[in-house]
Amino acid sequence: MPPDSLTPVTHTAGQDTAASLLWSRYRDAAAPAPQIWNDVIATLLGHRSIRSFLPTPLRPGTLDLLVAAAQSAATSSNLQAWSVVAVEDPARRSRLSKLAGSQKHVVDAPLFLVWVADLARLADIATNEGVEIEGIHYLELLLVGIIDAALAAQNAVVALESLGLGAVYIGAIRNNIEAVAAELALPPLVMPVFGLCVGHPDPAVATDIKPRLPQEVVLHRETYATGGKLAALARYNGALRSFQREHDLTVEDWTSKVTERVRTPASLSGRHRLGQALRNLGFQLR
Ligand SMILES: Cc1cc2nc3c(=O)[nH]c(=O)nc-3n(C[C@H](O)[C@H](O)[C@H](O)COP(=O)(O)O)c2cc1C
Repeated sequence: MPPDSLTPVTHTAGQDTAASLLWSRYRDAAAPAPQIWNDVIATLLGHRSIRSFLPTPLRPGTLDLLVAAAQSAATSSNLQAWSVVAVEDPARRSRLSKLAGSQKHVVDAPLFLVWVADLARLADIATNEGVEIEGIHYLELLLVGIIDAALAAQNAVVALESLGLGAVYIGAIRNNIEAVAAELALPPLVMPVFGLCVGHPDPAVATDIKPRLPQEVVLHRETYATGGKLAALARYNGALRSFQREHDLTVEDWTSKVTERVRTPASLSGRHRLGQALRNLGFQLR
C-alpha cells in the first residue's frame, strides 16, 4: 500500500467530496465521518447502477482490461471456477433481454457480460486425468464457483466505474436459467449467475447514490447482535423514501419491500424452481 492511501483528509475540497459521498451513501446523522480517503474509496462510494446507456461503443481494449481486473480478484484455492461470456451481438442481447424480464438496458448497453460458475472446466481437467469426478457434485463446489464469479464481476465493476463507464447487474437471467444456458451454448455444469450491462452512461439521465442501511444494522462487533434494530430501520425507511421522492420512484418502505420479497415464492419471478433448473444443468447439489 502506498502511504498516501492512508492520508487523512485535510484539504477542504477532498473533505467535501468525502463527506458528501458518505452522506449520500447513508443520508443519516450516524454516517461515518471522512477521516481516511483516497481515489479508490471515492470510486467505491460513488457507485450507482446505470440503466440508461449511450450507443457509443466501448474503446478497444476495454473488455480485455475488465477481464484482467476480474481475474485479479481472489479465487477459492486458486480454482478460478468461473468464466464470463461477452455478448455484443444485438440480436442475442435482445433475446437475453426477453429472458430477463424484457429489461431495456440489456438491449441498449453495447456489452452484456454473463458471469458463470464454471465447474465444466474443472470436470474436464479431472476427466482428462482419468479420474472419477464425484466431488464435483457437491453443493460446496457450486458455491465456490458462484462466489468466485461474484468477486470477479465486482472487480470488473469497480474497474469500469473508475474509467467513467457504468453497469447494472442482471440477476433476472436466473428467471429462465436453462434458456439462458441454451442461448449461450453453455455445457453441463456451467451456471449463469448474473448478467452485467456495460456501457457509457447517458448523461441526460440523472443517477444518484442509493442510500444503504445504517452501519449499526449490518456491523456486528465480536458476536452477532439480534434485535434492537427497529429505530435504525425506521431511519433507513426515511432515507430511502427521500431518495425515491427525489427520483420520482414509487415511494415505499424498504422494510415493506423486503417483507413482500420473502413472503411467497411468487415474488421470486420464476426462481423458486432454481433447484430443479440447476439439476437440469447437470448439478446434483448433493
Ligand atoms: C446480483 C444482483 C442482481 C441484480 N439484478 C438486477 C436486475 O435484474 N435488474 C436491475 O435493474 N437491477 C438489478 N440489480 C441492481 C440492484 O437493483 C441495485 O444494485 C440495488 O438496487 C442498489 O442500487 P445501486 O446499485 O444503484 O446502489 C442487481 C444487483 C445485484 C447485485
